[in-house]
Amino acid sequence: MNPLRTLILAAAGNDTVRRVVATAPVSRDVVRRFVAGETTTDAIDTTGDLVGRGLRVTLDYLGEDTTDRTTAERTVRAYLELLDQLHDVGLAADAEVSVKLTAVGLALDETLALDNASRVCAAAEQSDTTVTIDMEDHTTTDATLRVLTELRRHWPSVGAVLQAYLRRTLDDCRELADTRVRLCKGAYAEPASVAYVDQHEVDLNYVRCANVLLAGSGYPMFATHDPRLIEIIGERARWYDKSVEDFEFQMLYGVRTGEQLHLAAEGHVVRVYVPFGEQWYGYLMRRLAERPANVAFFLRSLVSRS
Ligand code: FDA
Repeated sequence: MNPLRTLILAAAGNDTVRRVVATAPVSRDVVRRFVAGETTTDAIDTTGDLVGRGLRVTLDYLGEDTTDRTTAERTVRAYLELLDQLHDVGLAADAEVSVKLTAVGLALDETLALDNASRVCAAAEQSDTTVTIDMEDHTTTDATLRVLTELRRHWPSVGAVLQAYLRRTLDDCRELADTRVRLCKGAYAEPASVAYVDQHEVDLNYVRCANVLLAGSGYPMFATHDPRLIEIIGERARWYDKSVEDFEFQMLYGVRTGEQLHLAAEGHVVRVYVPFGEQWYGYLMRRLAERPANVAFFLRSLVSRS
């Protein structure tokens, strides 16, 4: 992994860094580039805007590593309110939700996380939309896939997420290729024992995994901003005789917005991952770690304010 990326992800866990970033006056402005806002209304407004521009959306209520039941409950309620509103304003056909199991209690108790995720899936069904279960660091992969399997007994359309940087992922892709799967590179600092550390290796594995998913009968969702991978996926999709309805591209809110619109204008389904909520810190740090230019952007904003 890129040393700067490792450094930023390590700094993200430091309490002093957290205090400085979270309380810097500029942070909230910078955050707006990557986060829709703090309230459900902000999330709905941003979704309406993106859908109006021909994009689809998956919404993430920010919060992870929940260590108490009250916070997990608050997260579930935020999703229930969001799903109600998506339905009420007529956006549910174009917008689903993404859920992190640690945000709904995985670190406390796997059964609690399953129960809470089930409530979100039931509400999504009521609102005529779907849920994707985000993938977090590798220590949670097995538990996340176990919960996913349980959820799919009732809601087969629940989306999985697999991370190409993990060595195990090609096998997981073979297992899940006939289902709805988002393939991403992976955003956490992982050891070489479980993950490819060389970026080129990650990209090669992404292509191997993409081939497996495209050969399956499921619905692959390719979450990447990488122009080379997007081009390769387009070619591989044609080779596997997939039409534009058979798969989708996904990108993050605020990242390569022009490319999102360009792909949609070409007829592709493009879904934008839109995070919202007050717990934006961990999310922002992962986005900064992905690209040194984002750190420069962040620091420049700090300097220009001081
Ligand atoms: P890469 O990081 O190599 O970037 C390729 C190019 O894209 C860069 O050169 C740059 O031009 C642009 N770019 C990428 N990130 C940028 C950024 N932050 N700011 C500006 N430009 C940027 N991860 C995970 O572990 N679990 C998950 O559940 C998810 N879910 C998820 C959903 C969706 C819809 C997306 C798009 C991504 C995720 N991810 C994720 C994150 C993912 O694993 C990965 O960290 C990022 O997408 C960056 O990887 P890329 O494939 O874009 O390639």
